Amino acid sequence: MGNSLLMMIGFMRNKTCGELRASAIGANVQLCGWVDRRRDHGGVIFIDLRDRSGTIQITVDPDQGKDLFSTAESLKIEYVLQINGLVKERPQDAINTKIPTGQIEVLAEKIKILNAVTTTLPFSVSIHDEENVKEEIRLKHRYLDLRRERMNRNLNLRHNTIKTARSFLEKEGFIEVETPVLTRSTPEGARDYLVPSRVCGGEFFALPQSPQIFKQLLMVGGIERYYQVARCFRDEDLRADRQPEFTQLDIEMSFMEEKDIIELNEKLIVNIWKEIKGIDLPTPFPKITWQEAMDRFGTDRPDTRYGMELVETNDLFSKTGFKVFSNAISSGGCVKCITIVNGNKLISNVRIKPGGDIFSEAQKAGAGGLAFIRVRDNEEVDTIGAIKDNLTTSQIKELLLKTNAKPGDLILFGAGPKNIVNRTLDRVRQFIAQDLNLISTKESKTQWDFLWVTDFPMFEFNSDENRLEAIHHPFCAPKPEDIGESENSWAKNLPHSNAQAYDLVLNGLEIGGGSLRIHNPKLQKTVFETIGLSKKEAEEQFGFLTDALSMGAPPHGGIAFGLDRLVMLLSGEDSIRDTIAFPKTQQARCSMAQAPSNVEEKQLEELHIASTWTETD
Ligand code: AMO
Repeated sequence: MGNSLLMMIGFMRNKTCGELRASAIGANVQLCGWVDRRRDHGGVIFIDLRDRSGTIQITVDPDQGKDLFSTAESLKIEYVLQINGLVKERPQDAINTKIPTGQIEVLAEKIKILNAVTTTLPFSVSIHDEENVKEEIRLKHRYLDLRRERMNRNLNLRHNTIKTARSFLEKEGFIEVETPVLTRSTPEGARDYLVPSRVCGGEFFALPQSPQIFKQLLMVGGIERYYQVARCFRDEDLRADRQPEFTQLDIEMSFMEEKDIIELNEKLIVNIWKEIKGIDLPTPFPKITWQEAMDRFGTDRPDTRYGMELVETNDLFSKTGFKVFSNAISSGGCVKCITIVNGNKLISNVRIKPGGDIFSEAQKAGAGGLAFIRVRDNEEVDTIGAIKDNLTTSQIKELLLKTNAKPGDLILFGAGPKNIVNRTLDRVRQFIAQDLNLISTKESKTQWDFLWVTDFPMFEFNSDENRLEAIHHPFCAPKPEDIGESENSWAKNLPHSNAQAYDLVLNGLEIGGGSLRIHNPKLQKTVFETIGLSKKEAEEQFGFLTDALSMGAPPHGGIAFGLDRLVMLLSGEDSIRDTIAFPKTQQARCSMAQAPSNVEEKQLEELHIASTWTETD
């Protein structure tokens, strides 16, 4: 705790609770704060007074007067007080070495109740109480939860992270510019939050999923180096690391190559870790291409704190008679596996067969089954079902060589379409790593595995809509060597091109993503065509951008960090809700303010809209 506490004194107090030390002995102080605890000790009353800076023990002696004492007797937890008193040394046997103010106490001379608690508190706020309050209740009474040490610490850390980023970026010549919140949809892949316009009947604003287009327009506007602590809105399924309303540290710059941008952002992260954690991060951060990440980990945001990498075994199984595998390969899919060292001892058959917890993880990722092989002492393999019967001794040898599996190890297989196999083994790999404690809790909070993932494909196929869609967003620049020099080959080459795009991953979590942008209007229009937009649609939705690109747009690029995720990792929390003052619940609601809520019919009429919602929806 403790930011700018010197600024906190005024006419109501001349010191803060947590700042007092033995050096203040003999001083008269006036403090304000909340009653953290009150204890009656044989005629003397002790109050722990708490403000943002910490707590101090207030002693109320009956000798100081009857009125004072009876006020002290009437005090309840969380009353708000102003106290005048004398700072004294605590008796030797009463010194508390656990708190910074533990050597002293304040002998109360005057107690003024600034406010009482007139209702039952839903949970204890005290620093002495680490009781695990249900999140539902914490969020409903967030103002009380914020008074507790944990949230106080997290919000301070968030503030310091933003402050460090601002100061770094400003030194590097960036200026903060605000971009509109009432705007039109930016295609970042989620659903939009829409705001109906009263003035322009029948039309809607969209809240920004990110300031992407505006920051590019700022580059066209000659700002050259922009940043913003930007609120973004995405209507998507929620997870511990996703909120409908979240904050990006959004950055854009002109006249920089990909490697310049990556280097500058590494410096930013290094600065934040130094300032917040006192840690010198080694640079450069490792880099792998998207393709390598998918091959080795089955995901574009791999957790590289542990092994258990995916190994492709197509060559081997296309030759065997095990139909499940060879059919998967011949129909364009693959067979991949992960090896769990000592898995024979650690993981029972029950867990990997239908109904088992590991099997059900695989199912959740879309797999039909989870084949396995156990390597026995003599390097023979053992399994259930047909795999073993269809493997020759030399094929078993080849498998063990490929996977580096040793006696005692368990090999789990995924077979089928590539995306499902990758998704399955990624999920199972993460589940087993957690389950077997491959990253101990201590390490998971202190080990910082940063990884740049680069060279993303420009597009992926959306089978529901039967069209290509941009993996990041349609403004990412393709690799020049992939699209070729001639404009005539762009349309042909784009679908197979990689983007000059990069994500920063930390311990398996995507904390930021960015790219170089297209600054050539013709190329931008070809990308719109590639994702299936007609000329008319592209003009309607993005005409202002392509116009701007035609008026002297500089080469530019940037990145956005998920600020809530950064703070979550820095604070060791497991959910971004614990890094946001007033987050939404898992159901995307604010349970405190009861938002969203119904509105008057008249409001809807003014907005020229009607609700079609029925209870059965
Ligand atoms: P992207 O969509 O990758 O890129 O977002 C950037 C970062 O924002 C964080 N993030 C979220 N955090 C909390 N809740 C969410 N719902 C959520 N969604 C994303 C992630 C992510 O890495 N305009 C581009 C950036 C650019 O190209 O410069 C963009 O928004 O940490």
